Amino acid sequence: MCGIVGYVGKHAASSILVEGLKHLEYRGYDSSGIALAEGNGIEVIKKTGRVAVLAGLAQKHASKASMGISHTRWATHGGVTDENAHPHLSWDSKIALVHNGVIENYKALRTFLEGEGATFRSQTDSEVLANLIAYYYNLDETAQNGNRLVCAVRQSLIHVEGTYGIAVICADLPNEIVGARKGSPLCIGVGHGENLIASDVAAFVGRTQNVVYLDDGQIVHLSREDFSITTIAEETVSPVINQIDWKIEEAELGSYKHFMEKEIFEQPQALENAMRGRFSDDESTAKFGGLNLDAREWRQVDRIVFCGCGTAWHACLVAEYLIERFSRIPVEVEYASEFRYRNAPLDKNALFFVVSQSGETIDTLEALREAQRKGFRVLGITNGVGSTIARESDGGVYQHSGPEIGVASTKAFTSQLLISGMLGLYLGRMRDLSFGDGREMVKAFKSLPGLISQILDQADQIKAIAERYAEFQDFLFLGRQSMFPIALEGALKLKEISYIHAEGYPAAEMKHGPIALISEQCPSVVLSPHGDTLKKVMSNIEETRARKGRVIAITSAGKDFPDSAADDIIRIPTAHSCIMPILSTIPLQLLAYYIACKRGCDVDKPRNLAKSVTVE
Ligand code: AGP
Repeated sequence: MCGIVGYVGKHAASSILVEGLKHLEYRGYDSSGIALAEGNGIEVIKKTGRVAVLAGLAQKHASKASMGISHTRWATHGGVTDENAHPHLSWDSKIALVHNGVIENYKALRTFLEGEGATFRSQTDSEVLANLIAYYYNLDETAQNGNRLVCAVRQSLIHVEGTYGIAVICADLPNEIVGARKGSPLCIGVGHGENLIASDVAAFVGRTQNVVYLDDGQIVHLSREDFSITTIAEETVSPVINQIDWKIEEAELGSYKHFMEKEIFEQPQALENAMRGRFSDDESTAKFGGLNLDAREWRQVDRIVFCGCGTAWHACLVAEYLIERFSRIPVEVEYASEFRYRNAPLDKNALFFVVSQSGETIDTLEALREAQRKGFRVLGITNGVGSTIARESDGGVYQHSGPEIGVASTKAFTSQLLISGMLGLYLGRMRDLSFGDGREMVKAFKSLPGLISQILDQADQIKAIAERYAEFQDFLFLGRQSMFPIALEGALKLKEISYIHAEGYPAAEMKHGPIALISEQCPSVVLSPHGDTLKKVMSNIEETRARKGRVIAITSAGKDFPDSAADDIIRIPTAHSCIMPILSTIPLQLLAYYIACKRGCDVDKPRNLAKSVTVE
């Protein structure tokens, strides 16, 4: 959470920084600010509210400064106030800093600095770091100017406990930015006659496609013409310049009203991208380039553990159903946030998968590190090319979903489900899944873009249903087997963007408690696909309706599910069970989206949330 952008070059920094922040607003949107290196010192403009508010202020200020740093905040320490917004200036106004992360020992550092005469304007942990850097900068008056700031940052970070991605400027050095990271993402945009630093490539992909990803413990020193990387331990790092594989237009709204809407409608293409080049020539199995395990090593795997958070955790639950069903390998699912602390007993031949759209979620990253620390191989499923999880895992699968900006994850989730199903196929074909069954699955996966488009064609009908239900305050989402995680995901989508209380349950569990909630005031969304459990789910619907609970059913059962069986029915295509979780998800995303719109909610920036959760 929190987004950082820094620019040093020949152009006016202010508008470049504001533009960059607009692309990072998904990381936090409590307040934002910029610090500009003016000839006579550092000018800070910061304000609570969205980046649009800052944009207005920055335009009025009309600065010509060609270097600056900026920040969009998701509050951790200190409320949402102008004073707590970043950048923070040191007490002597020499140093300005933007920070993403948490300085855990900030109280002790603050007490020390107050003893040294520093004063504070905010309640944040970040201001402490600005003052600490100023303290070391002022101590080291004999060093060369450029190195002096790097030295001061290095000295300070030695004393810091916690996580950080920072960008720092100094009033004495109008052509230099120093950045550093530990636990919070940071990358460098390498331009011609200009360089940028940011939490995410989205901030600068409109200016350069060249990116260098920083690793934990690294410090970067940027000027207009050059940049160099060292470690906190003073080793020199040879930078690797990567190419960003998407263009800025992909991160723009186009004709859509919200990113969430755009991303829901992009799913046929996103899934096409996730499948491209990933089926064998005889079309009976999947293939993946980056798993870094040969067939013999796979045969030795006798358990797979999946870890993730939020929507990615729901994808892990679906992976459990699909991989167990098609490959018969036992799968366990862990909340990444719990795994690290619960010291779970693990099978010697277990293999780990971490699943993360951003590739930067701190809990998932720490779960990865914990598993590696214990000697396990960890593979990543992520959409974040070059993300920390992608770089630290031992192999993995890129989703290729394209940038996902809406805070509510949609296309990334269905891509994760697709990859999980394809893994089930791949592992199944190494075991007992027949050639014929494999071919049927490949056919089913390939039919997805077309089938999803058919569901999206019903958007108006789903919108009409959504609008009839937009006033309710409570919802239940019910489903069995692989539809249970889809019910959880449907409930999460609804609550995060419309603030309606919603719970997901295995449909048959309803009678063991949640049925007490059923009333005219609490409708249920019931996932009712064709197949073995249809009759049982239909009985659950009867039980609900007998208690005056309204039911929206999502079904692929055709004639077996008559129009009279629910209050509202969304019909989806009948298909192979390996893709039914994906098809069933689409109407739930549309329902949540249209309900939130009807309630006038800020769909892409729901209250209290940020897209990328980089603090524990
Ligand atoms: C999804 O709608 C949520 N906003 C959230 O649960 C998200 O899935 C979770 O924070 C994990 O993010 P990641 O996939 O980037 O790791």
